[in-house]
Amino acid sequence: MASTPIHLRWELYPVAHDIRRFKYGGSFLEEADWYTKKIHKSMLGEMRVMLPEILLLKGVWEYNRGLWFWSFTFHIGLYLLTALIFILTLGGIIIGPNIFYGYDALSLIGKIIYSLSYAMLIAGCVIGTIGTLGLIIKRSTDREMSTSSSFGSYFNLIFIAAIFISGLVLLFSGNAVDKLIKFYYSMITFQSMPNLGAAFAVHAVISGLFILYLPFTHMTHFFMKYFTYHKVRWEDTPNIRGSKLEKKIQEQLSYPVTWSAPHIHADGKKNWADIATEEVKKDEK
Ligand code: HEM
Repeated sequence: MASTPIHLRWELYPVAHDIRRFKYGGSFLEEADWYTKKIHKSMLGEMRVMLPEILLLKGVWEYNRGLWFWSFTFHIGLYLLTALIFILTLGGIIIGPNIFYGYDALSLIGKIIYSLSYAMLIAGCVIGTIGTLGLIIKRSTDREMSTSSSFGSYFNLIFIAAIFISGLVLLFSGNAVDKLIKFYYSMITFQSMPNLGAAFAVHAVISGLFILYLPFTHMTHFFMKYFTYHKVRWEDTPNIRGSKLEKKIQEQLSYPVTWSAPHIHADGKKNWADIATEEVKKDEK
């Protein structure tokens, strides 16, 4: 995505990084000689829009209130289990030896990691199961949603439900965090893993398969949003003479056009610059 040609920008204001003019929907274009001035892009301004969208799914709240509760709980469950991967990696490093070999009491930081892991696992699996089952029911019962749902829409949700539910089974099987820390410790230290039981194996295999499957699906939207927001919706870097942007646009203008729409008059040889500058016949105006 990062190496694809420049996308058609929205140029629709306000954009989040123009922190001063965001409030009233303005842009730097309203200033005289804007092209001679340095444009300031505020990361804080972007965060103010991104965080409510990521953590609270503000867009779904505003535009599809009936879906919000299920989508929110579903995503919170996913975020908690994703964050748990980092906590458990840290746990594998800090308290892995204690738990793996069963010696020494845990230090304070070890106890915090251990308790936090339990809290995140319980909360993630419970909240995530509620959200995912809710989304499956909503998707299959809501007429508008069910008619636009593909096999993949249900498959993804069922796959994720299997992660959450197998996590709950792991919790009921006992010593879930000990098993997880042993698993992470043996991965970090490249040593063979003890037998951690069937509930653990099922959860680990489902979660591992999901991580392999994830890059090939629309669920990559958690990082693809960077491109749709920063490179399409909010990108407003001016095309100044001699700039990098100008060079890129010039390159793109030299691409041959193969579009079949008759009004474009493309023949596969003319490029975008030819088409944009060619004379339009009177009756076509
Ligand atoms: C930056 C973080 C994320 C944001 C802002 C976000 C936002 C959204 C939004 C607005 C929707 C549409 C509403 C809906 O259908 O429920 C959605 C749907 C979905 N997201 Fe995310 N998402 C994020 C991360 C993730 C992650 C990490 C995954 C999975 C690994 C994921 C999986 C899904 C799935 C499967 C759906 C479709 C749910 C359905 O069938 O209704 N999302 N997301």
